[in-house]
Amino acid sequence: MRILVVETREAAAVVVVDRIADVLRVHPAAALGLATGGTMQTIYDELVRRDQLDLLDLQDVCCFLLDEYVGLDAGDSASYLETVRRALVNRTRLPATSVFGPDGSAVVLDVEARRYDQQVTQSRISLQLLGIGQNGHLAFNEPGSSFQSRTRQVDLADETRRANSRFFTGKRSVPSSAITQGIATILQAEQLVLVAFGADKSDAVKAALEGPVSSSVPASALQLHSHVTVVLDEDAARELQNR
Ligand code: PGA
Repeated sequence: MRILVVETREAAAVVVVDRIADVLRVHPAAALGLATGGTMQTIYDELVRRDQLDLLDLQDVCCFLLDEYVGLDAGDSASYLETVRRALVNRTRLPATSVFGPDGSAVVLDVEARRYDQQVTQSRISLQLLGIGQNGHLAFNEPGSSFQSRTRQVDLADETRRANSRFFTGKRSVPSSAITQGIATILQAEQLVLVAFGADKSDAVKAALEGPVSSSVPASALQLHSHVTVVLDEDAARELQNR
């Protein structure tokens, strides 16, 4: 695992997008795994900048989301599919038809989760972007999630709903469940890039990277993968001993 601590979020975005550019140089039609959440916005801004300057081309890329809320209407602006459309599709050459996610409005969620798991598995993700929750969650795999877990419907932890209420009109409007790629599904990606900013992530980062590998800290599963890059700002890295 490589841990890179950088001074600014913009510098972090440069490092992360350099990784993506390396992948696309070899495989212009690579499958990329996208995360959502506030942290990724800086990364997406850098991707947009490079696509617009023709330093990188997202035209042939396929993108797969980690997760999606259950119960939002198709097209709801808070859904992760819409978030990625706004952040990337509307601003780059990435075609809307090349972005895939689990359908949180499906009638039979179990069937949809299994379908999406198969789609992700068959697509062989080259690089998976990841954030981390303050409680150590990975995608919406909340503490206690099995490392063998596959894509499935999950209940969201209270603190996750609280943290994500900033994207809604308040905590009560945050859905209480989601479909998320499982930890085993995520670990299939060829390489993982975890990004975390801010002091409120420092305990989770410390537990995930230097604590025991345990389902009580889902992001500690990263320690089991052979190709992981972690990009942190100083605040997120402040509890780490080995950096
Ligand atoms: P954030 O979310 O980037 O909005 O902090 C990350 C996560 O919860 O995984």
